[in-house]
Amino acid sequence: MKKTAAMGIGISVVPEILFASNKSDEKLKIGLIGVGLRGTNHLQNLLLRKDVLVTAICDVDPARISIALDKIAESKQKKPLVFDKNETDYKNLVALKEVDAVIIATPWLWHTRMAKDAMLAGKYTGVEVSAANTMEECWDLVNTHEKTGSHLMILENVNYRRDIMAILNMVRQNVFGELIHFRCGYQHDLRFVKFNDGKTAYGKGAEFGEKGISESKWRTQHSLLRNADIYPTHGVGPIAVMSNINRGNRFMSLTSHATKSRGLHNYITEVGGEEHPNAKLQFKLGDVVTTTIETTNGETIIVTHDTNLPRPYSLGFRVQGTNGLWEVDGNRMYIEGKSEPHKWDEADAWLEKYDHPLWKKYGEFAAESGHGGMDFFVLNAFVESGKKNISPPLDVYDAAAWSAITPLSELSIANNGEPQDFPDFTRGMWINRTPYNWMKDSY
Ligand SMILES: NC(=O)c1ccc[n+]([C@@H]2O[C@H](COP(=O)([O-])OP(=O)(O)OC[C@H]3O[C@@H](n4cnc5c(N)ncnc54)[C@H](O)[C@@H]3O)[C@@H](O)[C@H]2O)c1
Repeated sequence: MKKTAAMGIGISVVPEILFASNKSDEKLKIGLIGVGLRGTNHLQNLLLRKDVLVTAICDVDPARISIALDKIAESKQKKPLVFDKNETDYKNLVALKEVDAVIIATPWLWHTRMAKDAMLAGKYTGVEVSAANTMEECWDLVNTHEKTGSHLMILENVNYRRDIMAILNMVRQNVFGELIHFRCGYQHDLRFVKFNDGKTAYGKGAEFGEKGISESKWRTQHSLLRNADIYPTHGVGPIAVMSNINRGNRFMSLTSHATKSRGLHNYITEVGGEEHPNAKLQFKLGDVVTTTIETTNGETIIVTHDTNLPRPYSLGFRVQGTNGLWEVDGNRMYIEGKSEPHKWDEADAWLEKYDHPLWKKYGEFAAESGHGGMDFFVLNAFVESGKKNISPPLDVYDAAAWSAITPLSELSIANNGEPQDFPDFTRGMWINRTPYNWMKDSY
């Protein structure tokens, strides 16, 4: 299963679904807000589809608009309407009748306000991760969806990773037994992303904010001012789906702890020298932030945020039930009665056996689209749900509950690890909401 899908796949194997419609009036008309690194990635994947048209793009950076226009021209599609005048020009994009659906890939502080405006304008809305920064913003998303009936999908691509979907398949087939405990997180050395030289996005320089480019322009400020799990959804999104959060289960409370902050300061002095002005800054974000969530069904989830220290990438997943467990680190599985007692199995054979129907069907095509293919699946779910204007697999309640980890962990850390309750964003409906049917091969 591992790497085979990445090899030599031509356009001839694009699944039929992507050719479903040739009539332009049946295509989903999409407006992109933010065509930075991530938005351009979405654009490229959208341009491979026959059932969408990119009718409008918006960005405040003319260089990014120009890159996006070149890509659209290269793919021989009609030039989209462009919104680049100022920070609120996106409001003119969401007002367009030529736009059915909107994808928001801007800095975090814009996500909720743009998503709200898009929903108020009746657009099917996709928002990058995290969806919200404060508890008020989490409620804003839910309230706006309930007021307008417009749908919101949080575009969490890790939910569609091949190993994650195989594990979800195993969860749904009860291989792990009753679920008990999970681990996950965002463990990614981002020092070279949080700082650069204002010219190259990654790897050079100790600048950020106005002197930086790409994510260092806006992301680093959060590390300076907030001590919290500021990026929880890549880890918690997949676990929330496995444990039916907001659909028969919900996040009840959390406690959070942060270590001291050393990594970013050390990186600045290494790259820019002791005298660099940024060496005087005191970053609030602890190098390792550890959050423990309790669910109403009696599971615990340990979520780690670790982005300031040297380390190889890992989202650190563990899924553990009454029959056994999977751990991504070490690529290992143990299922009682199937594995040799007290010995780990290599996970590969298990992951292959339980490969998800979606990956079996679309894996070869998906592997071309970046991020090991998961970006194809998250976008496919968005487009397919958007075409029907139905609730997406990862909806507004998920966006709110997952994003709420940031403000709640911040409060807990500030109060010496004091437990913080999650609000019930579903207003009691989690009791009756049935899980989305993940075990199908369409989206
Ligand atoms: N799911 C993933 O794997 C993944 C990967 C990377 C980034 N992301 C998320 O995607 C989002 C964007 O990240 P990125 O790496 O593309 O950052 P980026 O800085 O490269 O791009 C952001 C773009 O938004 C534009 N922008 C800023 N304010 C704007 C406004 N008011 N109106 C219009 N455009 C505006 C910027 O000019 C820039 O081009 C972030 O939320 C990030 O967390 C997700």
